[in-house]
Amino acid sequence: MTPSGAARLAGVVGWPVAHSRSPRLHGFWLDRHGIDGAYVPLAVHPDNLDRAIRALPALGFRGVNVTVPHKRTVMPICDRIDPLADRIGAVNTIVAGVDGSLTGSNTDAFGFVENLRQSGEWNPAGGSAAVIGAGGAARAVCVGLIDAGVPEIRLVNRTENRARALADEFGPKIHAMPWARREDSLDGATLLVNTTSLGMTGQPALELTLDALPADAVVNDIVYAPLETDLLAAARARGNPVVDGLGMLLHQARPAFEAWFGVMPAVDDETRRFILADLGK
Ligand code: ATR
Repeated sequence: MTPSGAARLAGVVGWPVAHSRSPRLHGFWLDRHGIDGAYVPLAVHPDNLDRAIRALPALGFRGVNVTVPHKRTVMPICDRIDPLADRIGAVNTIVAGVDGSLTGSNTDAFGFVENLRQSGEWNPAGGSAAVIGAGGAARAVCVGLIDAGVPEIRLVNRTENRARALADEFGPKIHAMPWARREDSLDGATLLVNTTSLGMTGQPALELTLDALPADAVVNDIVYAPLETDLLAAARARGNPVVDGLGMLLHQARPAFEAWFGVMPAVDDETRRFILADLGK
């Protein structure tokens, strides 16, 4: 649907931004729901971030997504940061109020947890989670897991101090473990999540032997290119339920779409197929 002069406006701010799938995804949902709206890519150099973000209300934008490299640096520009984004330490969604004020939030933890929930295989309270990596993505994953009621998170990172720092910050549910003992973290776990870029196209593999992982543990990779990483293939081969990373990308977009366009969109097979076809281009 071509936007009218009264269209609701949103977009994604990044540098570069051409890789972002968000315009296609939001465009798909706008079409599906027949909404008079537009969601555009906004390539904003870091030097211009402050001016660009502050101009959004004057331009009539209802808000924007924020992506690399602006997720942290955008925080002091917002008028308000919601508590979840504050805990995650990053903003991926900004909503402009009717008064022109800007509220920063973060939907990555929601996207991560909703992706697992939709798989129908995961019981958050059922047991420990092993999380590989302690970077920005791991922060959202850990916050999501804690809020979902996971009793224990075993956090393994190459740079152990980063995992320890997260454990200190997020509290006693998180147990930092050294990289050399990453296979021990799998013993008795009900969920394994890779939050690193290892296994992504062009990146080194994640070297992790799954022998200690229970056969019914859910295995999730937040990497979605390739869709089936070596980790997921190895897990599938031994019979573990697997959840790929595309769903997190799709689900994190839902609350933002609802905030700007007034409809909570669904992630279904058609949505996945549409974005997968786009990723293949
Ligand atoms: P993101 O925001 O995508 O999480 P990040 O904050 O740079 O990116 O974090 C990248 C994560 O991948 C970190 O946990 C990093 O481990 P270090 O903290 O030790 O750097 C992990 N990572 C990246 N390359 C790695 C590699 N070759 N081996 C092990 N871990 C790696």
